[in-house]
Amino acid sequence: MSIGIVGLGYVGLPLAVAFGEAGHDVVGVDVDARKVAALRGGESYVEDVSSDRLRALDGRFGATTRYAELAGAEAIVIAVPTPLTENREPDLGPLLDSARAVAGVLQAGQLVVLESTTYPGTTREQLVPLLEESGLGAGRDFHVAYSPERVDPGRRDFTLRTTAKVVGGLTDACRERAVDLYGRVCDTLVPVSSPEAAELSKLLENIFRSVNIALVNELAMLTDRMGIDIWEVVDAAATKPYGFMRFDPGPGMGGHCLPVDPFYLAWRAREFDMTTEFVELAGRINQQMPYHCVARIERALNDQAKAVRASKIALLGVSYKAGVGDTRESPALKIASLLGGLGADVRYHDPYVPELRDLGLRNEPLDDVLDGADLAVIVTAHPDIDHHAVATRVPALLDLRGVTRRPAPVRA
Ligand SMILES: NC(=O)c1ccc[n+]([C@@H]2O[C@H](COP(=O)([O-])OP(=O)(O)OC[C@H]3O[C@@H](n4cnc5c(N)ncnc54)[C@H](O)[C@@H]3O)[C@@H](O)[C@H]2O)c1
Repeated sequence: MSIGIVGLGYVGLPLAVAFGEAGHDVVGVDVDARKVAALRGGESYVEDVSSDRLRALDGRFGATTRYAELAGAEAIVIAVPTPLTENREPDLGPLLDSARAVAGVLQAGQLVVLESTTYPGTTREQLVPLLEESGLGAGRDFHVAYSPERVDPGRRDFTLRTTAKVVGGLTDACRERAVDLYGRVCDTLVPVSSPEAAELSKLLENIFRSVNIALVNELAMLTDRMGIDIWEVVDAAATKPYGFMRFDPGPGMGGHCLPVDPFYLAWRAREFDMTTEFVELAGRINQQMPYHCVARIERALNDQAKAVRASKIALLGVSYKAGVGDTRESPALKIASLLGGLGADVRYHDPYVPELRDLGLRNEPLDDVLDGADLAVIVTAHPDIDHHAVATRVPALLDLRGVTRRPAPVRA
């Protein structure tokens, strides 16, 4: 099969490679000429796709900035960003741009699938009308479906193949074609009755995480005042074999998805005279967390009779999650900037993040950031760092991820 992928980022590139590895011919389109040049040179910029895997595709994957090369594809998958505007409203700019560009090359018989996370109604109300500017009719001359991506960067236990994939088509035939497409790289398909159901299922998954993270973060702020160890509480609750799902507290919520996607639904709900209270509340609590962390840092320094100003603070891990270099919406950025504003001497070690340009900081070797530090703060606990050893090297350690706490009691 010949498959086109629009948007070669965290979602699009692994998908392109998966189709290529399954023996299909893939052409990837991206507006970022630097990314296209890197891919053409056999270099991957996404952690989950090694450059070796890319090179092994041996001619079955081509990257380009030209949409015209999609004309020969049987299926076109769109995986462009869906960010928020400064007013925290959906920014469909990249999606609409890519839809217009696809419409310009659309051929009768093609299948177009949207994968970008978005509010229910986007595929039918935004994507389809633009594609139909081609003069072709959706569901008649070409097929349209929505299938959300569930990739979790850095995760090894579930892959694209072993993670069930939800698919909703504009018509039954649209859905069947999309099921056939993804059946080539996924073991389990979950067909649903409409693109709207598929769109909302993705938002439900992300809102579920956001709300549960906020719940445990709120408890973490409370237990901090009460003098109770939140990790002990979570460990204990997690021994219940049913009706409880573990979520761990942390410095806040980061990444491209959880701090952003729920607000797509909140925005859409307003059109239906509804306020999505859970979404707003979870967002508020999670946004407070970096401030709570800075208050804890102030206290940890105060215990040593030190002020934040001029104290040497070593931040360990600045990406939004362990094992990846993605710093989008990472709470570490807020923490570093608040501490900088208070006059602290902030340095960081993160083997995955070479620099934080906006903050004027660069990754430094672990030994260098710990030498002379007044306080080390574990913001993101990357693997391969011996955090217990770190604890012995600094006058004070604040562990925001609970990795240095005593091990949970073993089962009797
Ligand atoms: N990253 C994740 O873990 C994840 C997981 C599930 C869903 N999603 C969703 O998938 C979508 C893509 O996310 P991502 O993380 O891959 O983003 P990304 O920023 O890593 O990649 C998107 C790519 O699209 C390109 N692009 C932007 N506008 C374009 C256009 N008009 N034409 C062609 N290319 C264009 C960008 O240059 C970029 O390379 C988003 O809606 C996101 O919410 C992301």
